[in-house]
Amino acid sequence: MYASAEAWREVDAYFVDTLVPEDGALVSARRSGARTTMPQAEVAPNQGKLLALLCQIAGADRVLEFGTLAGYSTVWLARAVGAKGHVTSLELEEGNAAVARENLERAGVADRVDVIVGPAAESARRLVEDGTQPYGFVFIDADKPSNPEYLRAALALTRPGGVIVIDNVVRDGAVTDASSPDGRVQGVRTVLADISRDERLEATAIQTVGSKGWDGFTIIRRTG
Ligand code: DHB
Ligand code: MG
Repeated sequence: MYASAEAWREVDAYFVDTLVPEDGALVSARRSGARTTMPQAEVAPNQGKLLALLCQIAGADRVLEFGTLAGYSTVWLARAVGAKGHVTSLELEEGNAAVARENLERAGVADRVDVIVGPAAESARRLVEDGTQPYGFVFIDADKPSNPEYLRAALALTRPGGVIVIDNVVRDGAVTDASSPDGRVQGVRTVLADISRDERLEATAIQTVGSKGWDGFTIIRRTG
């Protein structure tokens, strides 16, 4: 049988206490999510650390993020790339971006992060038009119906070897409902189908439980 949601949260807390200490800047970034348009949508601490580790394992020194909110995952990724690295994070709402910039300052990484305000697909298009250097790691965590569009943008801004992670691909199990009227579920299903058809991409998905409930990541490696 499965453990209870409470036990999952306890195990998450144990892992975080043991392996993933948050400093004051990360705690502030997490808490200040309450001042954004989507409180508590940030990744769990152990998932933030997973993103940082994947970024480092991929050897990425340039990161592109879709969806900043208060900048919690942004801080993890900015620290992962180090002082010579760069993170571009795309955020729809100016108010959220202002909260994120405060958190990036407090974390000591503001100099290596650009938060670009506006619809992420438009901002990404501008990055392509401007001939921006390719990114080695992309985290897609913005509005879910746009996931297919964000994947296409990510592919225009990465090279073979690049790694792309998409958040919230389980949604309490709703992802298996092919006839779901929820545009967020369809955004996940469509992007997964697109990934499966794209011969340049190798991917899997992992389910996560714990402090953020039942959800998951898709992890993609671009091979060609
Ligand atoms: C939602 C979005 C997220 O990115 C997340 O991590 C959790 C929830 C949402 O759309 O509800
Ligand atoms: Mg998310």
